[in-house]
Amino acid sequence: MEKISIIGAGTMGCDIAQVFALKGFVVIVRDITDEIIAAAKAKLKKALARQVEKGKLEQSLMDAALSRITFTTDLNLVADSDLVIEAIIENVKIKTDLYKTLDSICKPETIFATNTSSLSIAELSGAINRKDKFIGMHFFNPVPVMKLIEVIRSLFTSDKTFKTIYDLSVFIGKEPVEVKDGPGFIVNKVLIPMINEAICVLHDGVASKEDIDKAMQLGANHPMGPLALSDLVGNDVVLHIMNRLHEETGDPKYRPCLLLKNMVRGGLLGRKTGKGFYEYK
Ligand code: 3HC
Repeated sequence: MEKISIIGAGTMGCDIAQVFALKGFVVIVRDITDEIIAAAKAKLKKALARQVEKGKLEQSLMDAALSRITFTTDLNLVADSDLVIEAIIENVKIKTDLYKTLDSICKPETIFATNTSSLSIAELSGAINRKDKFIGMHFFNPVPVMKLIEVIRSLFTSDKTFKTIYDLSVFIGKEPVEVKDGPGFIVNKVLIPMINEAICVLHDGVASKEDIDKAMQLGANHPMGPLALSDLVGNDVVLHIMNRLHEETGDPKYRPCLLLKNMVRGGLLGRKTGKGFYEYK
């Protein structure tokens, strides 16, 4: 693998691009507007510059990584990629329309990976011909720090595609785990209901947000409290995953907390909007 394209220049897309560029890959980052692309470029440069300031990265390596990344709105630039990683909005129709276009413009060998947090890999690959070359590659936030990648195979993913992506995950310094197609895969099936429970504890008035987070940090040794984590992941993302678990299983234990719903409806999405359970500068 030499050329990796990332579709979607949000938090996850940018961070994934950073990891691959630092490992020497040629990287394309594609999104739909010039404004998003300009913001992504600035964000990625700032993230690398912070590592240089901290003495964790040499300036020459930062410059080399940046020179390997092309930011673009032109989807045709991804056509000759060895791997396309999709990290766009969690909407089945928008994603499947994208894959159909990619299926028609990419070389036959190109593997498509989705960073979806909870959608079905089989459903997402439903409209394309190369179902054997479609796989889930689920990264965790913040991607440069988090070691895990869930490598998710649908019923149609070939052994060759799985092995390629598993080995690639190891090559970029991550720890992959093999997962079958199922709502929330492993981590989100366990972690997101825990976050939802913490929001219910707050909603019920059992404790303050600070004490809920402190309790889980000190009582369960979590690196950050569940409410702070919800702000980091995005409260809209947490709600989407809860809704997805609820719809898919029909089990009322996955019902999202009313407070979470109201916060998302009110635009309190967490760090990305500057306000969630906490305020951010
Ligand atoms: N990019 C690069 N490096 C980062 C970073 C980022 N965005 N955020 C933190 N770091 C680095 C820091 O530079 C620091 O490195 P150093 O120790 O070598 O200087 C190290 O990570 C620790 O950071 P901090 O000292 O600033 O802060 P903490 O020690 O509190 O760690 C944290 C921050 C890594 C975010 C830690 O609190 C943590 O692991 N939290 C849990 C994160 C988690 O659970 N993520 C999974 C979310 S679920 C998900 O993503 C799935 C999705 O589908 C919803």
